[in-house]
Amino acid sequence: MFLYFSGTGNSAWAARGLAEATGDRAVDVTGPGLVSAPDVTSEERVGLVFPIYTWGVPEPVLALAARLDPPEPAFAFAVCTYGSEAGNALDALGRAFRLDGAYGIPMPNNYVMGSELESRAAALEKLSRARESVRAIAEEVLSRHGGRHVDVGPLAGLKSGVVNRAFNKFGRGTSSFAVTSACDGCGLCARRCPAGAIKMDGGRPVWSSPSCLMCSRCINGCPRSAIQYGKGAERRGRYSLDALLAELGD
Ligand SMILES: Cc1cc2nc3c(=O)[nH]c(=O)nc-3n(C[C@H](O)[C@H](O)[C@H](O)COP(=O)(O)O)c2cc1C
Ligand code: SF4
Ligand code: SF4
Repeated sequence: MFLYFSGTGNSAWAARGLAEATGDRAVDVTGPGLVSAPDVTSEERVGLVFPIYTWGVPEPVLALAARLDPPEPAFAFAVCTYGSEAGNALDALGRAFRLDGAYGIPMPNNYVMGSELESRAAALEKLSRARESVRAIAEEVLSRHGGRHVDVGPLAGLKSGVVNRAFNKFGRGTSSFAVTSACDGCGLCARRCPAGAIKMDGGRPVWSSPSCLMCSRCINGCPRSAIQYGKGAERRGRYSLDALLAELGD
């Protein structure tokens, strides 16, 4: 079983590809309302698939991991997707969840609130390499090959320590989100926010929680590109995995 958390689809795409290649199933655990952890007692393999957020593991994934108890014969593992590096994020996960194996897949960056997106050509190149990574990881998982196969990057201790803690404390505020006049009130952002942080009020979205997961689903997924986050996001494009996949003919 591949349990996936995904803001903008990269990790969902990887989890579905892995499930297909291993004859297993992918289960979406993104979003509010996940009351009980899925039953994994009779699973042959239990994998968590998720994005890296500021050299850390998204909080809901850590919380779920702590509630899962894969049976001893099952192969328990993690697959993280990231733009370039995960730091020591997997160490924190390993304290909550048995990690017989850990794998990383570089994928296009989606963090449009805080960083530049790569060029279309670079994103397409990453995505076609990611297809190969999915196939290779599926083989590893089927043959129960363990070990860590993750791009850690330089200064990992600092980034996954102090910097990640600062992000979780100060970098997840919603006060910089704003909606332009292009919004038509469709409500998609509110319905799809995995943190339940957006409410519709008088036909306009309002960020009703002071902080959120920063998954970037709302800002990248708005069909009218009506969501902004400070000045930086105004001049950046928006990330769409579907558009890239269409260009690759998938
Ligand atoms: C808040 C945030 C922080 C991120 N931090 C990192 C990071 O530390 N390292 C990295 O390589 N990519 C980082 N990224 C990029 C994502 O990990 C990457 O695009 C991932 O594949 C997105 O997966 P998803 O579409 O399943 O949400 C970050 C993205 C977001 C939204
Ligand atoms: S998804 Fe975009 S257009 Fe729809 S309500 Fe949200 S901000 Fe407005
Ligand atoms: S408000 Fe936007 S960025 Fe924050 S958790 Fe919800 S969808 Fe993700």
